[in-house]
Amino acid sequence: MCGIIGYIGPKVAYPILLTGLKRMEYRGYDSAGISTISIEDNQRAVNIVKKQGKVSNLENKQTELQGNLGLAHTRWATHGQPSELNSHPHFNDDKSLMLVHNGIIENYLTIKRNLEQRGYVFHTQTDTEVLTKLIDYYHKKCKQKLSTTLQNYEQKKDPLELALRAALHDVVGAYGIVLFHKDTNKLYAAKHGSPLVIGIGKNEHFVASDPAAFLDHTRRVLYLEDEDIAIIKENSYELKSLCSHNGECIKRKEDLVDWDITAVEKNGYEHFMLKEIMEQPQTLANCLAGRLDPQFNDIKFTLKLTLNFIKNIKRISIIACGTSSYAAMAGKFLIEKYLRIPTEVEVASEWRYKNPIISKDDLVIVISQSGETADTLAALKLAKQFGAKTFGIINVVGSTMSREVDSGIYIHAGPEICVASTKAFTAQVLCLNFLLIKLGKIRGDLTETQIQRMISNLLNTPELVKQSLNNIEQIKAAANLIKDKQSIFYLGRGINFATAKEGAIKIKEISYIHAEDFASGEMKHGPIALLEKGFPVVTFVNKNDPLYEKNLSSIQEAKARGAYIIVVADHIDSTLQSYADTILQVPKVPDYLQPLINTIPLQLLAYYTAKLRGCEIDQPKNLAKSVTVE
Ligand code: M6R
Repeated sequence: MCGIIGYIGPKVAYPILLTGLKRMEYRGYDSAGISTISIEDNQRAVNIVKKQGKVSNLENKQTELQGNLGLAHTRWATHGQPSELNSHPHFNDDKSLMLVHNGIIENYLTIKRNLEQRGYVFHTQTDTEVLTKLIDYYHKKCKQKLSTTLQNYEQKKDPLELALRAALHDVVGAYGIVLFHKDTNKLYAAKHGSPLVIGIGKNEHFVASDPAAFLDHTRRVLYLEDEDIAIIKENSYELKSLCSHNGECIKRKEDLVDWDITAVEKNGYEHFMLKEIMEQPQTLANCLAGRLDPQFNDIKFTLKLTLNFIKNIKRISIIACGTSSYAAMAGKFLIEKYLRIPTEVEVASEWRYKNPIISKDDLVIVISQSGETADTLAALKLAKQFGAKTFGIINVVGSTMSREVDSGIYIHAGPEICVASTKAFTAQVLCLNFLLIKLGKIRGDLTETQIQRMISNLLNTPELVKQSLNNIEQIKAAANLIKDKQSIFYLGRGINFATAKEGAIKIKEISYIHAEDFASGEMKHGPIALLEKGFPVVTFVNKNDPLYEKNLSSIQEAKARGAYIIVVADHIDSTLQSYADTILQVPKVPDYLQPLINTIPLQLLAYYTAKLRGCEIDQPKNLAKSVTVE
């Protein structure tokens, strides 16, 4: 949801900023802009180029964008349609102040009205122009005040820092911002709700929404926390808190990024989505590595919960959004079936506003690939306020959620660039299994034999996923059959209701075919009215499912209305062949691994259907990877 990068150092800023934007294009891609400061004959000049559309529209602009200091932005529109005018950076009237922003300023209309009364004129529909002009207003005021003050220590203060503080105290909402002023060799950054990370190089600094933006220059990073203000120079940076009025510097531990730039490259694949689907055997192996040991009959990760708490958990709430919430549904099914702990799953945007019932005996689990999703983060903060114990299942190391939770587990799927989530979902389901076994062992809900069997099945997942990736030609044929359809149903029962939801979101977000998911038994309560000859219905049949017969009945009901039946099944026999038009075979696995395995052909089905329809697979319209606004 918008990508930001800033650079200050001895190198030419433009190519660094352009590459950084390309690496973050998954965060937003409706318009982009770059601004730099160049110096010629001792004259400082601000340069700016903005374009509607993709970052590639900013290529070949080196002559317009000279200089060693700059900032850049790739946008996912919130306020105001995607256009050159609304794109970032935004600036004050004399273009001396440039600002890029990720987030939403909720009270921007009130601030705008106040500024208009003071003579400010607005040219765009954005909340970011309002924030820029608010900082400009305070900057002018602070400069004036400091120039008239007689106290020496006051004169040493930086008027832009004071202005930034004053403006940020006025705003309500979320922001990750980077700005510069023509007259100073500094970048200023501030964070509340939207991620920012400083890259620390040799005599150079970077600041970005994602370390991928600058990873070919440095791995040394410092993640900003909410309410941080950073003042970044070529050779140093200062970290301060918006909450401290004295402006003293804060010391915080730096981190080292432990993944490689190849992780954010396509490595020969046509799309990131296909690469990410195909690398699942490896990502799952990474997720398993060092955590499961059949000899010890246990899972190695730290649950910072007391024995007493674990044995007396009254309820588990799993909160997430989108695909992560479907992994959560699979988790609920397993926790209730194997541990008999009442478990609720709710999308974060609903849970956070419903005045949820939270008690100190509850465990609140958040699941998020990015670790930055605004609704999930707000829900997590709410759960903590009410004293619940929190646990995170998160992919992005160092993300805001990973730092907020009481304890958690990284899924180790590596950077996921395609907007449609694939490898994160399978690793989330695997981690929910880890949690299931851990809690089951401590509480005594699972026997040693059960645990042993589960662990050995979990250790097999990379190989099982590899086998599920083998059906490509058949999946391409199925994609060819559905590519011109208007609508598809995804039906699932039990744990595979979660898989049906995941299959449906995948196809709708990248192929733009309308898809709806239903619990299989619900179809006859209304949706069946839509079925007609050739209407595609995707569903699941697992031979050892206690509801095997019922699954066949649901298929029969759809088939009787002329539906075209695609079944993901762990066997092929004459019964199934008489019911299904296409069977996508997967290996036989116990229920706790079914969403992980059954989702693989559906990821590929979505991918090849979108490809046949000529869709922009990695960057579907209207979407962005990490939803850091409400
Ligand atoms: O980063 P998160 O897991 O918190 O993101 C949640 C959803 O925005 C995300 O899963 C979204 O639904 C995906 N684009 C689906 O493929």
